[in-house]
Formats: sequence, structure tokens, C-alpha cells
Amino acid sequence: MIHLKANKTTIKDVALKAGISVTAVSLILNGKGERFSSETKRKVHQAQLELDYYPDYYARGLVGQRNNSIGVVIPNIKNPFFSSLALSIEQAAIPKGYFPQIFSVNGFKENIDYFIEQFASGTQKGLVLAAPGASKEIVDKLSIHNDIPMVLTDQADLNTDDDRVLIAEEKSGKEIAHYLLSLGHKRVAFVIPRKLTMNLVKRFTGYTEAFIEYGLEVSEDLIFRTDFGPEGGVKAAKEIIKTDATAIIAINDDVAMGVFKGLHSLGKSVPGDYSIVGFDDFNLNKYLIPSLTTMAQPIELIGQKIVELMIERIQYPNRPSKRIVLDTKLKIGDSTRQINEGGRVL
Ligand code: RIB
Repeated sequence: MIHLKANKTTIKDVALKAGISVTAVSLILNGKGERFSSETKRKVHQAQLELDYYPDYYARGLVGQRNNSIGVVIPNIKNPFFSSLALSIEQAAIPKGYFPQIFSVNGFKENIDYFIEQFASGTQKGLVLAAPGASKEIVDKLSIHNDIPMVLTDQADLNTDDDRVLIAEEKSGKEIAHYLLSLGHKRVAFVIPRKLTMNLVKRFTGYTEAFIEYGLEVSEDLIFRTDFGPEGGVKAAKEIIKTDATAIIAINDDVAMGVFKGLHSLGKSVPGDYSIVGFDDFNLNKYLIPSLTTMAQPIELIGQKIVELMIERIQYPNRPSKRIVLDTKLKIGDSTRQINEGGRVL
């Protein structure tokens, strides 16, 4: 017998009636229940109807108070790396009772402070910053005056002592360049964004370190600064075929995909004419022909570590800050080949 409370039913009553956990009911009622069976979802909706349960935020005075949401600021949701990062944060946060609210800066760079401030005055309990350009003033307003914990990752370029989850950028860049040099490539073109963010400067530094170890220099005439996305790769390809490069390092897979397309439209083949290496290992890679050699970022683990640090910080605001640096993994595809002294593919 379910003893209903004299006042409005709660999510606990729904969970009791449906015979599943409150978290599961919350996920299902918030449209995040894809992992549950349709039978479970049916039971929840049936119990909700029978108990006439509907969350009433205003009555519970929750509006304006900090609920269990986490703001996530990313540079560009169209970039598969950042959309995958947002998803990995969501998948790590929701089972722990937190839900992310994603803000993609793309095109609103000058408003990043405005949007971050919205988080400060909103109901988020914490902020994940993966985008560059936030001012020190807005960050101080958040963390010092509003006690809103932040976790920095990827392109965030603040020199604060907030928690961070990063990848070993320099080591990854060096490994990529080392791999191409070990295949005999000496004339390597670099396709990078016009403005390198703090993390990408480290990645590029890693590339150059490998060249120095081989007694070579990165030639300025083989560095192509372009738009940060596939179209940037297409444009760079048109310039690269005018050089004696035999290999191409793209700053990420998004750009690498554009280089593929650009070379193909110019009658050049990969890896017959050019070896190509990307970065990220985003989900579309498996559809590329030939498959792209790339540096895989542990995107799921990055999301898990970000959520772990955020919840820890919410629970223990004064614990010392933590910096987690995760390793990447070079995934060899079919877009790279060894060449001989004459530059011919072996
Ligand atoms: O694809 C976007 C790239 O820029 C990724 O490599 C990520 O690290 C970001 O900084």
C-alpha cells in the first residue's frame, strides 16, 4: 500500500510506485532515459500519471537557487571534438545527479564574458571552461565573489589556480612529428589555425621539438595558417601542392578531413602523394577512406575527470586545486606511408 503524503507527491513517490531509483525516474522524466528499457519508462510515466506528479520548481522556490546544473562553455559545438566533449561530460554528470548546460561560443567570442556572467547569476553550481578569451575580471567575479567552482580544460587560457583536466599536448605533438620523420618524411606541411590557443601552442611546440631532434627545422614556407575547420583544410591543400611537401600534419581531424577533400579535388592521392596525420580521433574518422592516422584524445575520460573534479570541488570548496594531465594514443591508419630518399612511397 503506497501511503501518499498529505501534500503534493514527490519524485520519491513516483520511484516507489514504479519500483526504480529516483535517479532513474529523474533521467527518464528529463528526457535522458535512453539507457532504460521501454518497460521501465512505461512504468515511470504510468506512475507519474497515476500520482499526478509534475515537478513544480516555482512552488518549491527552486528558481534562482543553485540547482544541480553545471555550465559548460565550449568554443564551437560544430567541431566534433567539442560536441563529443560535451557529450562525455553529460554522460559522466547525469548519473551523479548533475546535468550540464552547454554554451557554444562560436561567433559570440566578444560575448564570452556576458555568457559566463549568465552562468554566475543563474542556477549552475559550477562552470567547465573549454574556450579561450574569458577575462580575468569575469572569472574573479565567478570564483571569488560567487564561489562558483570552475574546471578548466582544453582551450581555456586562464592562469588561475582552478582545477584542470588537460592532455599531454607537447608530448602528443612530438610523437606525431616523430612518426612522420621515422617514415622518411622531411618536408612536412603544417595546417594550423590563424591564432593558436594556449594548448595548441604546446602541441605545435611538440611538433618542432621532434624536428630539432632529427636535426631539421620546421620551414616557415610549409606552415599554412587557415580557418579552424574542414574548409580551412581545403584552402590549405591548394597551397600545399605548390610545395615539395610529402606529408601534412593537420592541427585536428576536422582540418585533416578538409585537406583530404582538397587534395582529392586537385587529383592528388593520400597516401600516394601525401601522408596526412590529424588529431582528436573524432567519431567520423572511421568513415574516412583511407582511414586517418591521428592522435586519439581520451574524450570520454576527459569528461569523467572533469565531472569528478567539479563534484569534489562543490563538496569540498577549499581543497587544494588539482591538475590532471591525460595521455593520448597515436592511432595508425592508412593515410600515412613510408617513403624513400627520393620521396617515393615504398
Ligand atoms: O578539434 C579541436 C581541436 O582544438 C582539438 O584538438 C582540441 O584539443 C581543441 O583544442
